[in-house]
Amino acid sequence: MNYRKGSVLALSSLLLGLGAAGLSLAVAGDEDSKLHKAMEVVQAKNGFIMKNTKTAAVFKKNQKDIVEATKTLTKIGKEFREDDVETKDKKKDKKAWTDLMDAFVSETEKFAVAAGKDDAKQPDVKKAYANVSGTCTKCHDLFRPEE
Ligand code: HEC
Repeated sequence: MNYRKGSVLALSSLLLGLGAAGLSLAVAGDEDSKLHKAMEVVQAKNGFIMKNTKTAAVFKKNQKDIVEATKTLTKIGKEFREDDVETKDKKKDKKAWTDLMDAFVSETEKFAVAAGKDDAKQPDVKKAYANVSGTCTKCHDLFRPEE
């Protein structure tokens, strides 16, 4: 039946079109990308850690949760270290990505140990978090698309 054949053809070219559109959206900066969603979690955990290392009182009260939040950061880093992400200049640099993510993983691991110590002092912990933040900035400098 010609009619059916025609509509199947129309449908498949429509799907092809949608597929191509979907593909062009699947780059860093896409609101729905897995990395974007993960970064929203990273942002939330980062905010929690910053907020609760500000004073000795909030630090003591939330010390365990700070360590847990940091472990989530480490986990996300490990999950995405092998991803193929374009630099903000649309270049491929898989090695740079993995290196930057490994630095992030290593700093979050160190921070979790420092923050979890029984004798951990809030001012030291707050200062130590700068090492983690530094790895966020370094990666964003190269990989995070400008708004
Ligand atoms: C190895 C690279 C890398 C590291 C490390 C990294 N980021 Fe990102 N981040 C990105 C990229 C790439 C994007 C853009 C992704 C997107 O929006 O699709 C991004 C996006 C973001 C966004 C924007 C999300 C939004 O809702 O628009 C925030 C906030 C963010 N990162 C916070 C952080 C913080 C805080 C850290 C450290 C604790 C961190 N990132 C560590 C690569 C990284």
